Amino acid sequence: ETFDASGLHILPGAIDVHVHFRDPGYTHKEDFESGTAAAAFGGVTTVFDMPNTIPTVADGETLRAKHAIAASKAHVDYGLYAVLGEDTIGKVSELIEAGIIGFKCYMGNTFGRIPSPSTGAMLEAFEVVAPTGKRISLHAETNSVMERRQQRLTDSGRADPLAHLASRPAVVAVEAVARAAILAEWTGARIHILHISSAAELRPLRDAKARGVDITGETCPHYMMLGEADYARCRGVIRVNPPVRESANDAPLWAALIDGTIDMIATDHAPHTPEEKTRADIWAVDCGFPGVETQMPLMLTEVAAGRYSICDYVRWSAVNPAKVWGLYPRKGVIQPRADADFAFVDLDHAWTLRDADLQSRSKISPWDGRPVVGLPRHTMVRGRFVMKNRALVADTKGHGRSVHVIQQMPEPRPLHTDETLAAVIAARPEAAA
Ligand code: NCD
Ligand code: ZN
Ligand code: ZN
Repeated sequence: ETFDASGLHILPGAIDVHVHFRDPGYTHKEDFESGTAAAAFGGVTTVFDMPNTIPTVADGETLRAKHAIAASKAHVDYGLYAVLGEDTIGKVSELIEAGIIGFKCYMGNTFGRIPSPSTGAMLEAFEVVAPTGKRISLHAETNSVMERRQQRLTDSGRADPLAHLASRPAVVAVEAVARAAILAEWTGARIHILHISSAAELRPLRDAKARGVDITGETCPHYMMLGEADYARCRGVIRVNPPVRESANDAPLWAALIDGTIDMIATDHAPHTPEEKTRADIWAVDCGFPGVETQMPLMLTEVAAGRYSICDYVRWSAVNPAKVWGLYPRKGVIQPRADADFAFVDLDHAWTLRDADLQSRSKISPWDGRPVVGLPRHTMVRGRFVMKNRALVADTKGHGRSVHVIQQMPEPRPLHTDETLAAVIAARPEAAA
């Protein structure tokens, strides 16, 4: 069968390293079939799925069961994360054996109520993971007493809780990024900072990169494209963890992407039901919204506006994620090979995002009604169309494969000894001053 791609650009399929497909446990919100269909419509050919499903992915048996589910339902390729916490330090090799893309460490509370490890437990966990070469992705926010204080204000009717969310102090993220970076530096562990939401987090990230820490970071479209003004428009729908902050953060986040401080775009695709997203209690844990299928149009709109080039976008959406997780050059490249992942995109197509059109089971997002320029028309995963002319291709359910089998992380660097690290610290100009 021949195929006409005239007028379209061919991009490497996007790799979204941060999605919650909710399977098993919360399949009324999403499952591997609906989530990967959404990915296919968004030009996304590989997703890394988070472990806050039921049961939490914290042992080999649970992981194997999740692999079986994903293999039977996925339209696109995937990697699976496992939790790294106090209880899984002893399970690291069993989890790697069962097939993971990397570890996920929750430094603070979020959906799923996974306990966060103490700093001591994190240090131990990083020491165990470092020699394996696997990357540890961090939800880098600590729980804040500010939340409880604000809750009391809200209860007393003296504050608009939604207004508070945008100005939630970023210090809980800054502290967590800095602490994770120090532990990574000490142990030689590779780390990735998830959902960078504020300009303030860029300082510890830049500092760690300058020190040679193997640290990468992602941000999401909502942190650069939404701000305090959107709370009134979206109400509870915009509730996400970390919160969308004041738009004063947007320009520094864009600049950090462009100068390479932030390595990639992910979405934190986090579907919930409309009932959950529209209830009055904004302190509810049902934070997040779908994003895997809107990332590419939103980002391409900025290409059309001339903010950055299509090459920049491809670096953030595909090349860097593939390199960081050892999938390059099997993923993240344009090569005329039989197992290629492509998004065929109409860069000039102006259209409007509509929640009702989402493939995700969760048809509620802050993007409803947003005008965009750029449309993924066809999506190919390992040489096979899974989405063609904005329709799912029949019999591609189950075509998706786990990418851990092609993952080749480079050799981990030797660990610092206490002595060499002391020397490194002493050599810093600010330490001498
Ligand atoms: C995520 C979820 O719902 O699983 N929610 C969110 O607001 N981002 C969890 C997370 O990424 O912290
Ligand atoms: Zn998170
Ligand atoms: Zn998340």
